[in-house]
Amino acid sequence: MQYGANRVKDINLSQVRKMFEQASPTAINLALGEPDFDTPKHIIDSLKDALDTKYTHYSQNKGEPELREAISKKLAKDNDINVSDDDIIVTVGASEALYTSIQALINPNDDVLIPDPGFLSYKECVTLSGANSIPVKSSAENGFKTTIEDVENSLTENTKAIIINSPCNPTGAVMDKENIKAISDLASDKEFIIFSDEIYEKIIYGKKHYSFQKYTDNAVTINGFSKSYAMTGLRIGYCASNHEIIDEILKVHQYNVACIDTPTQRACITALNSSQQCVTDMTNEFRKRRDLVVESLNNMGLDCIMPDGAFYVFFKHDTPEAFVKKAVKEDVILVPGAAFGSMGEKYIRLSYAQSYENLEEAMRRLEKIV
Ligand SMILES: Cc1ncc(COP(=O)(O)O)c(C=O)c1O
Repeated sequence: MQYGANRVKDINLSQVRKMFEQASPTAINLALGEPDFDTPKHIIDSLKDALDTKYTHYSQNKGEPELREAISKKLAKDNDINVSDDDIIVTVGASEALYTSIQALINPNDDVLIPDPGFLSYKECVTLSGANSIPVKSSAENGFKTTIEDVENSLTENTKAIIINSPCNPTGAVMDKENIKAISDLASDKEFIIFSDEIYEKIIYGKKHYSFQKYTDNAVTINGFSKSYAMTGLRIGYCASNHEIIDEILKVHQYNVACIDTPTQRACITALNSSQQCVTDMTNEFRKRRDLVVESLNNMGLDCIMPDGAFYVFFKHDTPEAFVKKAVKEDVILVPGAAFGSMGEKYIRLSYAQSYENLEEAMRRLEKIV
């Protein structure tokens, strides 16, 4: 008997998780997709307070009104997006926002453009909806930034949506305003949806982040708290869009998770309404680590573009699989770029979400095998 439903049969489990499982306890894990920093104390305190004050019941399906109000203020202030509190749904991380919105808006056999290289979940979420994923290939010559030409080259008659991720996992590329605006205009003209995954918005170095939803009504902004506030384990994110789109997404969200745990929502109200110094401090530390890693890899003769965001370096190698295997023997865990799509085949992803000292040691170990 075949237990898996047809739509699940061809789904792959994450290659990155596989890399973790191979790691010995002494290994320096540079495959991590989460900040190594502690969740800021004022956020934890707020979570504890919420439990003590018995915030242990359901919230509204869309999320606590005060949290949605804080998110809508944040979107207006940081992203120049004006949405009412009602046009926001609080989700189980950006992951659920992504999955739920795809399920709600995409039909079987639609085409959905996904970034190549790009975050692993995109392809599988599209497959689960019965749609086809079409890669939008971004090139190293453009620093892996998706351009309007890249999108136009991939567009099909059946294109219902595109997923875009800036700052990008795995490359750290940050798209510029001109391309964001041009792709938004194209989405309005050709009537497709942009799922804009902005989870690394705050981890950006000297560049400004722009949101598609500022320029088109056809965008779903997906964001969360995992990376900005180092709270991956608390599983909370959100999506925002126009009223009609949110009404559709709510149908899937409501029957899937009902609502997000209430204490975590209270903690996120505190996160958004307090000083953002903790985010700045973490990003400043990431920038130091990025500089260390890029300089070290380039000194080893490994070709590596300076990333403007996220906490990944995507460096070039002729035989990535062999290099990653040798690195495992030296107790350094990396991820072969092929895990992120065909354009990543000659690359390796290194996450610098590790202490500066560990990164220095990892660089010494990698130097041995170069
Ligand atoms: C590009 C991207 N989007 C979404 C997510 C998921 O984030 P969350 O923890 O909010 O579900 C990740 C996590 O690694 C990511 O890298």
